[in-house]
Amino acid sequence: MKIDGHTRLAFLLGYPVSHSASPAMHRAAFSATGLNAAYLPWAVAPAHLAAAVAGLRSMENLLGANVTVPHKGAILPLLDALTPEAEAIGAVNTVIPRSGRLVGENTDGAGFLLALQEEMGCRPEGLTAVVLGAGGAARAVAMALAQAGSPRLVLANRTATRAVELAEHISSHNPRCEVTVQTLHPSWRVSQVPEIRLLVNTTSVGLHPGDPPLFDYDSLPVLALVSDLIYRPAETPLLRAARRRGCRAVNGFGMLVHQGALAFERWTGNRAPVQAMRDAVER
Ligand code: ATR
Repeated sequence: MKIDGHTRLAFLLGYPVSHSASPAMHRAAFSATGLNAAYLPWAVAPAHLAAAVAGLRSMENLLGANVTVPHKGAILPLLDALTPEAEAIGAVNTVIPRSGRLVGENTDGAGFLLALQEEMGCRPEGLTAVVLGAGGAARAVAMALAQAGSPRLVLANRTATRAVELAEHISSHNPRCEVTVQTLHPSWRVSQVPEIRLLVNTTSVGLHPGDPPLFDYDSLPVLALVSDLIYRPAETPLLRAARRRGCRAVNGFGMLVHQGALAFERWTGNRAPVQAMRDAVER
């Protein structure tokens, strides 16, 4: 990578940032498109987020930024404007400089839908879906599913009150989607959900060996499509169980790549080299 006086800069603001695949993915995108730009992980402790955003504002050669845990919500009031997606999700994963202003965007939900379409050939229209979790990732996925026409969503979370709050948020933005809530526990039988077609895990369960099951995996209907946002390990116990039951199952690589590709497109105005980005992440 050549850095000179014309290099434009992109950053990942997070804490920690050391685990992230985004630098490799965006480096591959810049290289494949011949863009003179660099993408740098920037570890920002929560107390310094405002200073970091002020730093972004001062940078006239800023290409853009990504935002990850724990700053996706905290950055909202520090920006000048939000896209409708970021506004609805209530979180920002991408910052776009526009005429001296910093605009907050969220490409997680759209990235999830693109991955679903690409890897499962599936659109949420007409599909009853179960979303496991009620954190930031669940918010993006549930909002995307509701906005893309899923008629029924079941939000299942260990802490039921968080699922209730999320359900109210999703319902208020999508009156045509019927949203219900379920307490998530290892003996819950997901087959109790009538006509379940899609199940998405947005929790961190499955990241570590020996994590307990999220629900009774033997209750997965054979026709269900199962998506786990976790990509390391590439096969979580949920995905393994789903495949054993004959379900189509995919991990979080696709969403990771597509949310990054959409960020690249917002920053540059050019089509993202999706395959090069995917190859970099898989390496
Ligand atoms: P993110 O923004 O990445 O979604 P988060 O806001 O910390 O992260 O949310 C993590 C999600 O994983 C939550 O839904 C959490 O459930 P609680 O709301 O009950 O905490 C879920 N989660 C984490 N560990 C879990 C476990 N051992 N069993 C079930 N759910 C778990």
